[in-house]
Parts: sequence; structure tokens; C-alpha cells
Amino acid sequence: MSRVFEALQRANPELTRSLEEGDKSSDGISQFVATLSSEFAALDEALPFAIPESPEARLVSWNDPNSLAAENLRILSARLRQSQQRRSLKKVLVTSAIQGDGKSAISANLAITLAAHGEKTLLIDGDLHQPTLSKSFRVDGERGFSTWHNNPEAVTSLLYRAEGVPLWFLPAGMCHEQPLSLIQSQKTSELLKQLAGWFSWIVIDSPPLLPLGDASIWATMSDAVLLLARQGVTPKKVFLKSVASIDRSKLFGIVMNDANANEERYYRAYYSGKNEEPTRHSAKYSK
Ligand SMILES: Nc1ncnc2c1ncn2[C@@H]1O[C@H](COP(=O)(O)OP(=O)(O)OP(=O)(O)O)[C@@H](O)[C@H]1O
Ligand SMILES: [Mg+2]
Repeated sequence: MSRVFEALQRANPELTRSLEEGDKSSDGISQFVATLSSEFAALDEALPFAIPESPEARLVSWNDPNSLAAENLRILSARLRQSQQRRSLKKVLVTSAIQGDGKSAISANLAITLAAHGEKTLLIDGDLHQPTLSKSFRVDGERGFSTWHNNPEAVTSLLYRAEGVPLWFLPAGMCHEQPLSLIQSQKTSELLKQLAGWFSWIVIDSPPLLPLGDASIWATMSDAVLLLARQGVTPKKVFLKSVASIDRSKLFGIVMNDANANEERYYRAYYSGKNEEPTRHSAKYSK
């Protein structure tokens, strides 16, 4: 097996597997390398956006890396990375029982944290009912996953690329149909497989588990589910109902959002004692 093929296999196991099972001729390999190269090139041509620095965007992992929230996100992403070394883990769904638990905020911050570690990360706005991530990132949310679904254009033309970290973003787009029928289509599951070949991580933001079916469908296509609860907001009963609705083998962890105001104070006091000048990001990306 050539070195090039071994490198491609590391970068894209799913596509190389299909090549191994099929055409093993050198023509097949050249074709495969050409396709893969053009896809990677197209990723770098995605429209750039600057991660907003305003406090309303609540992107603490970018704007306040010395906060306890940013530290907790680093711990969570380290656990995901450790787990990825032991099993097939790439597509992570972020969901919760009800509206407003913080799914979009956590998805965006988790994706930034994973990308800041230097790994190619894609954030998908999978909330076709009330997408908010385009607004948070201040990009055009008209076109995205749902428009791709109805038009034969390359998905790479709908992606945005963050400046400074290897983070890509696929907006939900304007959805004029039943979101559930788009999400559970064969086309969507094929798209996810294709995207999994290009990225190290795919973080999917979703609508609430109750009363919609969307998050459950996203869960079946994901490798792991992060279930959020918001301190003082998520009712215990509905939270327990949402836990019961998730396949246990996929439940990676439960994240308590908006908690520990006291711990934050101690953490900041400790941090500022050690490090007067806050550092910005643990890892910066340059092409
Ligand atoms: N830890 C937090 N501290 C303070 N505000 C927060 C926190 N997490 C989220 N918020 C704010 O709460 C609101 C709801 O958060 P977000 O949109 O992330 O929730 P959601 O679960 O995605 O909601 P929906 O179910 O409607 O999609 C937003 O205004 C967000 O900025
Ligand atoms: Mg949301």
C-alpha cells in the first residue's frame, strides 16, 4: 500500500474503504485522489467569517477563554477526543428537552473549542424550525442545509469558514417544507457520511426533543448525543423523559448549562492570580 494511500486512509477512512472494496487499479486511485483534492480545495474556498466578539453572541470559548465555562468546554472536548481514540466518534448531537436550554450556545462554543485544538470541525445548524446560529455568527442564513436538499449544488458552496480556527459552518437555510421529511431522507444520511470524510468533528445543533421528532432523527445519524439541562429552568420531569427517549449507547453525557456562579468566582480568582494577562486561545489555526 502506498504512503499516499495510507495518509488518505487516515484522513478519510470511509472513502478509502469503499475504494479498497471496489476498484483497486491505479486509475481508480488517481480518480479518488483527484476527487478528494478538489473537495478539500473547495472547503478552503468557503466564504470566510470572523467569529463575533460581542458579548451578546455568548461565544465564551472564543471571547473569554479564561472563564470557567470555556474551561469546562475544553474538558468536554478533551473527553470527546479521548473517546474518539477508542471508538468511532465524530458526529456529536447537542440537544435538550425544551426550548432555551442553551443548545445553540453550547453547540457553537463546543465546535469552536474542538476547532481551536486544531481539528477540522463542522458545525451544522440542524434546527430547521428556529435556526439561530447564522445570527450568532452574523452570516447569511437564507441558504444552507435545507436549500441544498432541494437543489443539486455542491454543499461546499453553502459552507462558511471561520477566520483563525479550522471551523466550518453549515446554516440551516430557509426551510419551506416539513423539516422532519428533509432530515430523515436518504440524501441527508448520505450527506452526513460524505461530510464525515472531510472533518474530524461534526457538531449538530438541534431543536428540543419535546415535542418535535427532529432531534431523535438527528440522534440516529449521530455517533454521540450530549443532553443539556439548564439549571433552574429545565423541569425535572421533562428532563427525565428526554433522557429516556435517547438510546443509551449514544448518550455521551449530560451537560448542565448556566450553573455554578460561585465556582466561576473562585475559578477567576485562581486564574487571575496565576495569569495576569488573559491568554486568548489555546491553539490558533493558520492555513
Ligand atoms: N450559560 C448561559 N448563560 C447566560 N445565557 C445563556 C446561557 N446559555 C444560553 N444563554 C442564552 O439563553 C438563550 C437561549 O439559548 P440558546 O438559544 O442557546 O438555547 P436553545 O436551547 O438553542 O434554544 P432553542 O430550543 O430555542 O433552540 C439565548 O439568549 C442565549 O444567549
Ligand atoms: Mg437553538
